[in-house]
Amino acid sequence: MRILVTGGSGFIGSAFLSRFVPENPHHEFLNIDKLSYAAHPLNTQALEQLPNYCFERVDLAHFASVQRALKKFAPDRVFHFAAETHVDRSIRMPLEFVQSNVLGTVNLLEACRQFWDGDQSPVFLSVSTDEVFGSLGDSGAFSEMTPYDPHSPYSASKASADHFCRAYHDTFGLPVKITNCSNNYGPRQFPEKLIPLMILNAMEDKPLPVYGEGLNVRDWLFVDDHCEALWQVAERGKLGETYCIGGGHDVPNIEIVKGITKLMAERRGLDSLDHLITFVKDRPGHDFRYAIDTSKIKNELGWQPSCTFEEGLALTIDWYMSNEEWVRQVRTGEYQNWIDSHYGVAH
Ligand code: DAU
Repeated sequence: MRILVTGGSGFIGSAFLSRFVPENPHHEFLNIDKLSYAAHPLNTQALEQLPNYCFERVDLAHFASVQRALKKFAPDRVFHFAAETHVDRSIRMPLEFVQSNVLGTVNLLEACRQFWDGDQSPVFLSVSTDEVFGSLGDSGAFSEMTPYDPHSPYSASKASADHFCRAYHDTFGLPVKITNCSNNYGPRQFPEKLIPLMILNAMEDKPLPVYGEGLNVRDWLFVDDHCEALWQVAERGKLGETYCIGGGHDVPNIEIVKGITKLMAERRGLDSLDHLITFVKDRPGHDFRYAIDTSKIKNELGWQPSCTFEEGLALTIDWYMSNEEWVRQVRTGEYQNWIDSHYGVAH
C-alpha cells in the first residue's frame, strides 16, 4: 500500500508515522508537510533512514503542488492531519486558518478526486476535532449524531473542512472517512497547548496561566491511542462515516494543571509548585465543556484507549524534562530559517 500523510511532521502526524512506518515495511509512506511553526523535522528524524519513508515540503494551499505530489506518489490511502490547530491563534489570525484548513483540505480532496477518478478502493481519512460540535452544558457527551455548532474561527474552519469532505463523498463518491477527536496530549506537542505549556513553565518557575476560573472541561486522549484509532478506522471503518475518538478523561482544566504541578514538584524535589498557578483573562468564546461518547468506535471496531491519563501524563512530563534540545529548537525561530534554506520555501 502507498500511504500519503499530510502534516506528518506535526505532533499527531509524527506520532502516527513513528509507529506505523517501522511496523509496516511493506507499505510506502510519503509525508507532505509545509513545516509551519508547529512542525519540526526532528519529529521524524528517526524515520529518515528507513527505505519506506519519504518527505516532501508541500503547502496544501498550492493546488498544483498537491496535484504533483499525488501523481508522483500515487497513494491508495491518505491520512489528512495537516491543519492550523490552535484556537487562540485562530482568534488573532483567522485567515490563516481558512487558508490551511479549508482551502488546504479542498485542494487535497479535489486532487484525490481527479487522481482516483471514481476508484472506490482507496481511503481518504480526514482527522478532525470534537470542537466542531460546540460546547456542552453540565451533562451529556458528543457523538456522531451531534449537530455541528462551531464557535471559534479554528472550529469553524475544521467544520467547513468536514463539510467539504462529506460533500466530496456525497457528490463525487470520494471514499472519505472522518474522525473527530478530543484533546490530544503526549510527547512533541508544540508548547502552546495547555499540557506542554504548563510543564515547561513549571520547569522554569514561570506562572501557569489558567483561563477564567479553570473550570472549563476537556477530554484528554493520549496521542498514541488516537493514532491506533485512526489506523483502525482507515482499515475497517465505513466509507462516508464519522467516528468520534476520546480518552474518557474529561475533567476541569484546574485539575489537569494541579496534576502537572504535583508530578513536577515530585520530580524537582519540591513540596509544591501550586503557587505558580495564575488565573488570567478568559479566552473569548471559550467553549465550556467537551466530552466524547465513544460507543460507536468501541462497538464497531473494538477500539478503546489503552493508556490511563496518569500513565500518559507521567510519560509526557518525563519526555519534556529529558528533551531540552527539542524544546529549545521549537521555541526559537532560528530553525525556521534553516528549514527554508534546507528544504526550500513550501509551495
Ligand atoms: O478538542 C480538540 C482540540 O483540542 C483540538 O482540535 C485543538 O487543535 C487543540 O488545540 C485543543 O483545543 P483546546 O482549545 O481545548 O486546547 P488548549 O490546549 O489550547 O486548551 C485546553 C484548555 O485549557 C482550554 O479550555 C483552554 C485552557 N487553557 C489553555 C491555554 C493554552 C488555559 O487555561 N490556559 C492556557 O494557557
